[in-house]
Formats: sequence, structure tokens, C-alpha cells
Amino acid sequence: MKIDRDERFAAARRLFPHTEKIVYFNSASYGPFCTPVQKAIEDNIDLRVRAEKDDSHDAFAVRDSLRQDFADLIGARKQQVGIGLNTSFGLNIAAFGLPLKAGDEVIVSEVEFPAAVYTWRAAAEARGLKLKFISAPNRYFDIDSFKGGITGRTAVLALSWVQFFNGYRIDLEEVSSICKKHGIYFVVDGIQGMGVEPINVCDAGVDVFASGCQKWMLSPQGCGFFYLSDNVRDRITPPFMSWLGADWQMKFQDLFHYDKPYFDSAERFELGYYAVLNILGMDAAVQIFKDLGVANIKRHNRALIDRLAEYVRSNPYYRITCSMEPGHRSSIFTFTCDHVAELHRAILDQKIILVNRENSIRVSVHLFNDEADVDRLIEVLDDFSRGQGR
Ligand SMILES: Cc1ncc(COP(=O)(O)O)c(C=O)c1O
Repeated sequence: MKIDRDERFAAARRLFPHTEKIVYFNSASYGPFCTPVQKAIEDNIDLRVRAEKDDSHDAFAVRDSLRQDFADLIGARKQQVGIGLNTSFGLNIAAFGLPLKAGDEVIVSEVEFPAAVYTWRAAAEARGLKLKFISAPNRYFDIDSFKGGITGRTAVLALSWVQFFNGYRIDLEEVSSICKKHGIYFVVDGIQGMGVEPINVCDAGVDVFASGCQKWMLSPQGCGFFYLSDNVRDRITPPFMSWLGADWQMKFQDLFHYDKPYFDSAERFELGYYAVLNILGMDAAVQIFKDLGVANIKRHNRALIDRLAEYVRSNPYYRITCSMEPGHRSSIFTFTCDHVAELHRAILDQKIILVNRENSIRVSVHLFNDEADVDRLIEVLDDFSRGQGR
């Protein structure tokens, strides 16, 4: 069956004007806007320019429905989800809020994205924790290195769900079962899987899950969400607190109350007003994921990657550099060759947007891509290898 016969994906593709002009394989860096996102943002700008009414609290309702939407997308309850500004936001709640003692160890992989590393480095300096890097022999998170790195003082594992440079997806359940056995908090940076890999954070045994929405969730930069399990939520001391962490029951007429109870939900950890334009844009983007379903998006993306992988395997000039194991694949596909920088330039010249990461071409395939996009890339690869005498 041809993938683009699926009318729902073809219809979703039509919401992305860039698809008429370029091929975009770079959602692992940041996602393009669809017309509903553009409209939501422009409508709000228009409203604010006219300033005819006080709409300062209108976005609260959107924020509230987004908590539910994200909860649905990750198999959580709304009370466990808060709106954040990016991935680092949720990671910081964990790093500065979890009940840790001086001397406790935090494990990160030596190929972890810097977001977790810098957050935990600062927390280690401030709280007297020990940041411990474990080796990644194949440039993947390595279970044996993790097990070997655990000591009686290990308190946290901070890990990306999907590795940014090679798309290696962690088996969250396998890792969390080790964490549970040793009483280790499992803090997951979810941004590279969010929206393209189905997840149930409760079944997966994740304690803290943090994701920005600027990449695969196709939202503006500066918005995201976090999940806190019931197990950790009430043990976390909020590292920052805002007046909107207290429950005003939407009654803002009389503000001289300093004894409001904090929310008993993850909302307690949110931080005041956010950029409404971002929230509205994110809300419009999220609807696409609800409509298509993340499991369908995953299937769509895998099929396109299979098409590309088949070509890459068939051409000895190229070599796949990502895991193709079903349990560890993602929507990121990487491969390399002798002259990666030149190849990257040749691809960009054909208006195919992707990046060169760690000497591999990184192809991020998403819901708006189709077979014709993949075939355009294959054509460039074929020309390039021929030009190299292969
Ligand atoms: C794995 C991973 N985590 C985090 C980020 C970004 O962090 P933040 O959303 O806090 O800017 C990126 C990419 O920019 C990433 O690839």
C-alpha cells in the first residue's frame, strides 16, 4: 500500500505550506509551522493590536486543556502534567527540586545532549551532588555501563528517551526497572520522541518527563510541558514559585490574599504568565497529533525511513549509522559516507533541509513528509555517489 494513499496524512501535509517548495527533514532540530499554528498566532496578535477587551486570562483555559492533551498523549493524568517553557524547564524542576542529599550521585551518559548535563552540573555544584558519566561504547546509552556505574549513593539517572544525533531510542521500561530496583529517580528528556513515539509514562516507570514542543511537536520555540509521577510530585521542593502556583479558582478581582493553597497538581510548578502566542500556537499544533494519533505517525515515519534505508543499504558508498533494531529505532535515521560535508552541501543545494551531526547525515522524518520527499533525497544521494565514481 502506498503511504500517501492514506488521505489523513495527505491532508495533514497540505497544512504545511513549505511542502510545496522544499523537503524538510529537520524536525529533530525544530519543526515547521502549519497554517493552523500560523492562524492561531496571527489571530491573537490581531486581538492584542485591537485591544478592545481584557483577554489577559483567556489563555488560562487553553493552558488547562493543553495539560489534558499532553496527559492523553503520554498516558498520564492531567494533575501530573504542567506547562513549561522548554525541556530544560522540567529538567530543572527535577535537578533542583528532588529530595537529594550532598554526596548523592547523578548518572548521565557520555553521549547525552547538553541540556541534561548542564542542568545537573549546576545542580551538582549547588547541592553537593556528584555527576557521573557512564561510557557509551557504541555511542548508544549502554545498559551494562549503567548497571556497572550504580553504587549505594546513586540517586538519579538523567537520560534522553531518544538520542539527538543518532536517534537511538531507549527501552524505558527496561531502564526504569533497574532504577526501581536500586531506588533511583528516573528523569527523562523526552523531546526527541515526543509526538512520534507512543509512550505511557506510567507503565514506563518514568519519574520526571520533560519535553519542549519546538521540535517534533511542531510548536513555537519557548513552550513545552513536564510530567511528574505521583511518586515524586509531593517530594519535590519547588525550585521556583509563582503566584499562579497557588489556586485562585480563577478569581482575580481581589488579589490581597497571601495564604492561598498551592495547587496539589503539577500546576504548582508552573511559572506565572507565559507567552500567550506560544501557548496558542502549541495548542493548534497539538490538535494535529490528537487527530492523527501518535501510533499512526510512528508507522508513517517508519515506512518512509524503510524506503530510504533500503536505498542506503543498496548503495555501498553509504553506511547506516543508526540502530535499525525495532526496539531502538525512532523517526531519526542517520547514515554516512566518505565526504559527508560535501554531501550535506549538495543536499541543501537541492532545497532539502537536514543536518550533518557527528559526521552523519541526520534525516528526521515527520508526518508531513511523503514518499516523493524521500525519493528526492534518494536522487541526490544517487547523483552524489555517482560523482564520487561509485
Ligand atoms: C535531547 C534534547 N534535549 C533538549 C534539547 C533542547 O532543550 P530545550 O528544549 O530546553 O531548549 C534538544 C535540542 O535542542 C535535544 O535534542
